[in-house]
Amino acid sequence: MKLQSSNIKFLRDAAIQEFVLECSSMHSIMKAVNQVAGFDVNVLITGESGTGKELLAKIIHLLSPRAVNPFVPVNCGVLSGMMFEDKLFGHEKGAFTGAIRRKKGCFEMAHQGTLFLDEISELPVENQVDFLRVLEDFRFRRIGGEKQIRVMIRLISATNKNLKSLIKVDSFREDLFYRIQVVPIHLPPLRKRREAIPKMVDQFLNQMAAKYKKPKPSVTSELINIFLRYDWPGNVRELKNIIERVFIVNDKNVISPSSLPSDFLWHFQEPPQMMDLAQVRKTAETKAILEVLNRTGWDKEKAARILNISPRTLRYKLLKFNIKIS
Ligand SMILES: Nc1ncnc2c1ncn2[C@@H]1O[C@H](COP(=O)(O)OP(=O)(O)OP(=O)(O)O)[C@@H](O)[C@H]1O
Ligand SMILES: [Mg+2]
Repeated sequence: MKLQSSNIKFLRDAAIQEFVLECSSMHSIMKAVNQVAGFDVNVLITGESGTGKELLAKIIHLLSPRAVNPFVPVNCGVLSGMMFEDKLFGHEKGAFTGAIRRKKGCFEMAHQGTLFLDEISELPVENQVDFLRVLEDFRFRRIGGEKQIRVMIRLISATNKNLKSLIKVDSFREDLFYRIQVVPIHLPPLRKRREAIPKMVDQFLNQMAAKYKKPKPSVTSELINIFLRYDWPGNVRELKNIIERVFIVNDKNVISPSSLPSDFLWHFQEPPQMMDLAQVRKTAETKAILEVLNRTGWDKEKAARILNISPRTLRYKLLKFNIKIS
């Protein structure tokens, strides 16, 4: 579906306004983005989880001549084998049991627009060769189809992993790496651009006020100081989540450190004096669990996976350590 150019301008201005820069490294990134956005060059955006990779990919698309056409995100991590091919290339009616009608894949849906390959490092190794072949000339067949289809797309990929290390252990193809990474853009973690935090807090409060139709509170300098001291392992997403949580429950016209949830303030507690091993273990485990929960926006399934424990064990530990969202 094509968008009208007045709508594009609106979307582009909104996305650019949303994207807080406030530091020299981010200004340099935006300069590079403005230089490359207009050309159909493949871009690889790297950066830790929650640093704004998807938001930046959308901005690149909206700044490009392809902006009137679709921006199609696809998460390479969730599917493998035939399911992955189906998601990307689609299928013809009757191609397999359950294929009751023809279905376009992401490549076709992104025709004339931008295909955003998120978590590219998770692309199953068995799919990487075929995938590379398609990226050579953008020709493919739908599953069960005879006809060759050719699409014209711009490719933006993103990852929070170091692809060069994955190449060394044979879990990512080097040729594929050089195909997707013509222009590399690295988004620094939030702890390396702390000067942007006050502006982000202000902007997220504006967003929440509009979203929940509630007046925007002010924030104390003590609160900002706490935010400036914290390391933000979940980066901008974690900051946005905490602001949203505080905003929803806050009923005053000012937000101070006492408004912060206990699981967040916990990070600033002094380590226990006693070296009782059970206590040390509990402290360390609680800290790790809270960190991952905050990073994943309290998605317990995802958190359990990152912590390498079963969701059941995580539920048990939450009860045992009395960890709850507050
Ligand atoms: N510089 C920024 N200014 C304002 N908001 C931002 C900025 N960067 C990211 N955000 C917001 O933070 C959230 C996370 O951003 P995004 O989804 O783009 O991160 P990501 O790097 O793709 O994360 P992941 O690796 O987990 O997929 C989004 O709500 C996004 O709008
Ligand atoms: Mg993302």
